Amino acid sequence: MTLRTLMTFAALVPLLASAADTQHFELRADIPLEQTSPATGLKPVLKETDRRALNYVNQPPLIPHKVQGYQITQSTNRCLQCHDVDNYLTTGAPRISPTHFTDRDNIVQPQVAPRRYLCLQCHVTQADVKPPVENDFAGLGQFAND
Ligand code: HEC
Ligand code: HEC
Repeated sequence: MTLRTLMTFAALVPLLASAADTQHFELRADIPLEQTSPATGLKPVLKETDRRALNYVNQPPLIPHKVQGYQITQSTNRCLQCHDVDNYLTTGAPRISPTHFTDRDNIVQPQVAPRRYLCLQCHVTQADVKPPVENDFAGLGQFAND
């Protein structure tokens, strides 16, 4: 190691140390990474809201209702009992779109494609909480005011 590299290291050490000192792990509070932090608990999901405006093109729309207890297993999918193409007219739920029938080989299937079966992988409910991490995301164009 040359003297120059050594000096560069020496100059960086205090910087690294101070970065570690001031680092604030929002969801973990100030609990260091090597310790287990207590789970933050479930947040109260908003019961019923109007359908939410989108924030960008092709966003999976947010779920405007509670989903607690809705089962998704290999043999039953509670979401589809309201949202599938043959149920939506009687339940009044928005119909799943054709993209949900296209499999990974781009072939349209007669039923929901496996990659769209686990609805909550993409669609999420909302809770009225303070964001744990500050976020200044702003939509572009027609999404700017939503
Ligand atoms: C009992 C019937 C029912 C069940 C079960 C149900 N939904 Fe819904 N869902 C609705 C209705 C009705 C609306 C429309 C609410 C409105 O217009 O305010 C809706 C709205 C939505 C929307 C918003 C669509 C949009 O374009 O804004 C999403 C996403 C959604 N549901 C996903 C789900 C998922 C995922 C599940 C399963 C975990 C589920 N729903 C289970 C009835 C249901
Ligand atoms: C891989 C991500 C993904 C999964 C899984 C998924 N969706 Fe979606 N969903 C989307 C996206 C993206 C959109 C908006 C664009 C589109 O229609 O493809 C959407 C749109 C919707 C809409 C609104 C359709 C419209 O015409 O406005 C409903 C309702 C919906 N999904 C319900 C469901 C239900 C119920 C399931 C489970 C059976 C599900 N989704 C699974 C990504 C997903």
